[in-house]
Amino acid sequence: MTAQSRDILVTSALPYANGPIHLGHLVEYIQTDIWVRFQKARGHRCLYVCADDAHGTPIMLKARSEGIPPEELIERVGQEHQRDFADFLVGFDHYHSTHSPENRHFAELIYNRLKDQGHITRRTIRQAYDPEAGMFLPDRFIKGECPRCGAPDQYGDSCEACGATYTPTDLKHPVSAISGATPVERESEHFFFRLADFEGMLRDWTASGSLQDGIRNKLREWFEAGLNDWDISRDAPYWGFEIPDAPGKFFYVWLDAPIGYMASFRHYCDRHGLDFDAWWGADSRAELHHFIGKDIAYFHTLFWPAMLHGAGFRTPTAVHCHGFLTVNGQKMSKSRGTFIQARTYLEHLQPEYLRYYFAAKLGSGVDDIDLSLEDFTARVNSDLVGKVVNIASRCAGFIQKRFDGRLADTLPDADLYDRFRRAGEEIARLYEAREFAQAMREIMALADVANQYVDEQKPWVLAREEDTLPRVQGICTQGLNLFRVLMAYLKPVLPAMAARAETFLDIPPLTWADVEEPLTASRIRPYEPLMTRVDPKAVQALLEASRENLQPAQTAVPEGPLTRDPIREEIAFEDFAKVDLRIARIQKAEHVEGADKLLRLTLDLGGETRQVFAGIKAAYDPASLQGRLTVMVANLAPRKMKFGLSEGMVLAAGPGGKDLFILSPDTGAEPGMRVK
Ligand code: MSP
Ligand code: ZN
Repeated sequence: MTAQSRDILVTSALPYANGPIHLGHLVEYIQTDIWVRFQKARGHRCLYVCADDAHGTPIMLKARSEGIPPEELIERVGQEHQRDFADFLVGFDHYHSTHSPENRHFAELIYNRLKDQGHITRRTIRQAYDPEAGMFLPDRFIKGECPRCGAPDQYGDSCEACGATYTPTDLKHPVSAISGATPVERESEHFFFRLADFEGMLRDWTASGSLQDGIRNKLREWFEAGLNDWDISRDAPYWGFEIPDAPGKFFYVWLDAPIGYMASFRHYCDRHGLDFDAWWGADSRAELHHFIGKDIAYFHTLFWPAMLHGAGFRTPTAVHCHGFLTVNGQKMSKSRGTFIQARTYLEHLQPEYLRYYFAAKLGSGVDDIDLSLEDFTARVNSDLVGKVVNIASRCAGFIQKRFDGRLADTLPDADLYDRFRRAGEEIARLYEAREFAQAMREIMALADVANQYVDEQKPWVLAREEDTLPRVQGICTQGLNLFRVLMAYLKPVLPAMAARAETFLDIPPLTWADVEEPLTASRIRPYEPLMTRVDPKAVQALLEASRENLQPAQTAVPEGPLTRDPIREEIAFEDFAKVDLRIARIQKAEHVEGADKLLRLTLDLGGETRQVFAGIKAAYDPASLQGRLTVMVANLAPRKMKFGLSEGMVLAAGPGGKDLFILSPDTGAEPGMRVK
């Protein structure tokens, strides 16, 4: 039986307001939503809040590149996020923004309290500065050659080619990703949060049993490495909250981001007359659970509890980390079509397929979870349609047609019902512990038992004879009752399907406690399909729609004059800045056996040679190309083609076919030169 009612405040991480929600994000929001719906079904007072993370340099630059104020960008993206979440049935009690009066209030309050206690220090630091853009550069916005392996175009913190980690000042030939200018070093005074002041408190909090083993071990490593001061200020121009009494200095986005949890809840309290302090005060007895991805554990298990404690607030009851989503065993990739946006998914498939699939994969650990699309189709079709829906669809027709929709007065197999009812305790324990995959296995094992029951009783045989027909009502009532129990257990995962089942059974919204008593002697409504099968064609169409075209040159040249084209997607300046254009000398150009459009080019990049297949055969005789200069995209991911590896792309202009012109820059250009 449900124990005493608990007060539980739950959050998911706040998504950045500069990009769309994708399936990776949804691992988290679906995991959290299932847990919240479960707690609500158990009768607890559980509230789920979230917000958009609306500050920081990337958002400032994105708004700039779109030529709109950041307020407009975050408003638009915030709306898109909320629509995506709602359509995936993620049921927040409130969704807010970190760019809100409540958040400014708490950010200032917490900062001032920390400062008054002596936990904030100031120090002058040297930092990369973009003289052209007139701003300091975050590490992510500095690119250059890896100091270890020399790979070009690496970010300021680590090399994607060799895995080296370093600081931006180590990069060779660094450039600003914003303007392309060479950064200079400049001094500036920054504000720091003295994390080490909280080591004792953090060690106690860590030991309190609210963390997963993997995370607790990570924390031990972090303690060992020593807790450094945390830089919480950024210089103007910055998009965020200005620090009180420090003109031109802003709170770093990660300072006010987690405070957004409080801001969102504060807004909810004001609207619903709840006592904020009873939930956030230092001696609060309410529970506070944060669901996050493992990449942001440092912020949530060190900075955040320390900030809360230092400012006189309660600390989190638990921080639950999940792993990352891979698709078909690999990192989500735009070229493979597996970087799937929430909206694109919704255009092809139903949200509850994904909710169930994630539930069937999620445990309490921090392991990555894989979305294998074949497995996805098979799993949903066999479990939900083949097992669960099957029970209802097999029993409904007889009750409807032979018994005028009326259920029997008693169950013929009360013991079997009782077995289903009692299984609820273990399933609830698994939900509570976030062992959703195990919970789904238990539920599907019960579904097998229910189907077996119907198989053995053979109502379709009994219905043929007048004297055995009355037994059919009992058997189908039994079957529908087993189905009803399973729907109660699945409802946190499948709220819309549960609602359809409630309509069909003509019952009020199911709660966990409803399974105590079976449903008898009432009328059901005509059966309507509760869930349809996943169509593998729709899955293919989803991948197609998600695939970013990486075609050879001939199709990469968009047709028509260069006017603003609503179909041609605009790219942000940072995206453009990622393209490494270089002068290349065509050393060799050759026909490719079996290819009607392609030439194989050997390109000299000033010391490095590359092989590129270019679709320019109709326009050029290979001999005429040799020795000429052209412009190439030098950092395009190599692409395996039928004829070999293509390591870049050559730029050409024109409508295509014969009229395709290789750019041939003036003499003076040298192979390897960067094109600006
Ligand atoms: N804005 C910060 C969080 C601030 S919380 C005070 C942020 N935003 S995010 O949009 O990048 O990510 C939001 C959440 O989604 C994070 O918990 C992150 O771990 C999770 N995920 C983002 N991509 C993911 C996958 N590919 N797989 C699983 N979770 C992923 O971080
Ligand atoms: Zn490297």
